[in-house]
Amino acid sequence: MKFAIFGIVAALSTSFATASTLYAASYGGSLYSLAFNKANGSLSTLEKSQDCGTSPSWLMLDQPHGILYCLNEAIDTANGSITSFQAFANGSLDTIEKLTTPAGLVMSAIYTAAGVKDSGFFAVAHYETSTVTTYAVDRAKGEFQNLQTFTFEMSHPGPNTTRQDAPHPHGVFVDPTGKFVLVPDLGTDLVRIFAIDPSTGYLEPVEPYHATPGSGPRHLTFWTPKTYNATTSDVYMFLVHELTNVVSGFRVGYTNGGMSFDRFFHGTSYGNYTAPSSSKVAEIKVSPDNNRLVISNRLDNTFGSNNDSIAIFDIADKNGERFTGVRFVGLYPAFGSSVRHFDIGGCPQELAVSLENSQKVGVIQWNMRNGEPGRLLAELTLDGDVPAAIWAK
Ligand SMILES: *[C@@H]1O[C@H](CO)[C@@H](O)[C@H](O)[C@H]1NC(C)=O
Ligand SMILES: *[C@@H]1O[C@H](CO)[C@@H](O)[C@H](O)[C@H]1NC(C)=O
Ligand SMILES: *[C@@H]1O[C@H](CO)[C@@H](O)[C@H](O)[C@H]1NC(C)=O
Ligand SMILES: *[C@@H]1O[C@H](CO)[C@@H](O)[C@H](O)[C@H]1NC(C)=O
Ligand SMILES: *[C@@H]1O[C@H](CO)[C@@H](O)[C@H](O)[C@H]1NC(C)=O
Ligand SMILES: *[C@@H]1O[C@H](CO)[C@@H](O)[C@H](O)[C@H]1NC(C)=O
Repeated sequence: MKFAIFGIVAALSTSFATASTLYAASYGGSLYSLAFNKANGSLSTLEKSQDCGTSPSWLMLDQPHGILYCLNEAIDTANGSITSFQAFANGSLDTIEKLTTPAGLVMSAIYTAAGVKDSGFFAVAHYETSTVTTYAVDRAKGEFQNLQTFTFEMSHPGPNTTRQDAPHPHGVFVDPTGKFVLVPDLGTDLVRIFAIDPSTGYLEPVEPYHATPGSGPRHLTFWTPKTYNATTSDVYMFLVHELTNVVSGFRVGYTNGGMSFDRFFHGTSYGNYTAPSSSKVAEIKVSPDNNRLVISNRLDNTFGSNNDSIAIFDIADKNGERFTGVRFVGLYPAFGSSVRHFDIGGCPQELAVSLENSQKVGVIQWNMRNGEPGRLLAELTLDGDVPAAIWAK
């Protein structure tokens, strides 16, 4: 197999001397705020909080309001929790509120309801307890309360009996119109779809998308032209399936109060290569320039022992305005094992990776000109497995 070879990297400019802040969740029971200093390539701890609970799994930053929400998956514990923090520019985290929930929290997303003044809501996927919960939130204050709880059942296991023993909601995503919440369910091979009631913010289940049996849908992302304003019809969705390492592409339509999906692309997250049997695709996002798909492959050891891969696909023109079809670009090193989550941000933009099994956060150069990951700029070992890492901006 041949992969991208990196050229000689020019000496780092010191013009971006300011540090960027990152937040990371560790199954060691800690929520970290970290400082990345590009000038000298250092990644250091600003603050470490135990207030999220025993198994911090997901971080949701309400950036305009400076509030960070931390989900506690509560592995092997009866109940999980959600904690909100005031996130200060200097990296300090002040605890605002902590709420007990069903266990198994793995992802959340914020949405609004057009008809509710100053409205804010968020939904949470609970993998282990087959549940989706929703909350009304005062976004300025970071205070929230439970609104709805949906618990799902299935009459018999799915084709992958060990992983599909029960419904397993794995992600929460809001569509580009802001009118629907989508929840990939790994256990039932469904993408559950909920319409947001514009007058109350309550979720109403509508017709789901049925994925291939045994595929295990996990996460998804939408693509729209950069200047999309919800009146244009150019909406695409990309869905990764954990159990088969498949990425599917769809043209999205809106019909009868629901969503429709016309699948036009179906291939593995390894592009032209065969997916290694150990691999489990995890995260999928659109690049900052709106023209690439960035996908993380866990436990594939593509670049040697404990060095997994990031896959890049080209999907649009340089300006991110025109969809051009799906073209595999290549695989790039993740610099660690089990790259469960990543985020492209900071100043200037870099790729932060949560290397779960390596118990590390890594910062990888993001080549804005080519739309590709580059070399490792910094890494830091935390106090346990690291399921999530995000930039403060
Ligand atoms: C990098 O620079 C920052 C800010 O000047 C400093 O606090 C830190 O100690 C430096 N780290 C290393 C490894 O030199
Ligand atoms: C960080 O900023 C906040 C708000 O300005 C302040 O209360 C806190 O003392 C600062 N923390 C540190 C460690 O400087
Ligand atoms: C705690 O977990 C149990 C079992 O999943 C659940 O029934 C209960 O509602 C949870 N408590 C709260 C406050 O969510
Ligand atoms: C179930 O999924 C796992 C990946 O989590 C895979 O290794 C295994 O082969 C799958 N089993 C079946 C029966 O498809
Ligand atoms: C949205 O985009 C369409 C098509 O480009 C344009 O005609 C319309 O004026 C835009 N609407 C707003 C509110 O910007
Ligand atoms: C990979 O597949 C793309 C089409 O998706 C093709 O254009 C490209 O030539 C292939 N590259 C290799 C190395 O086979």
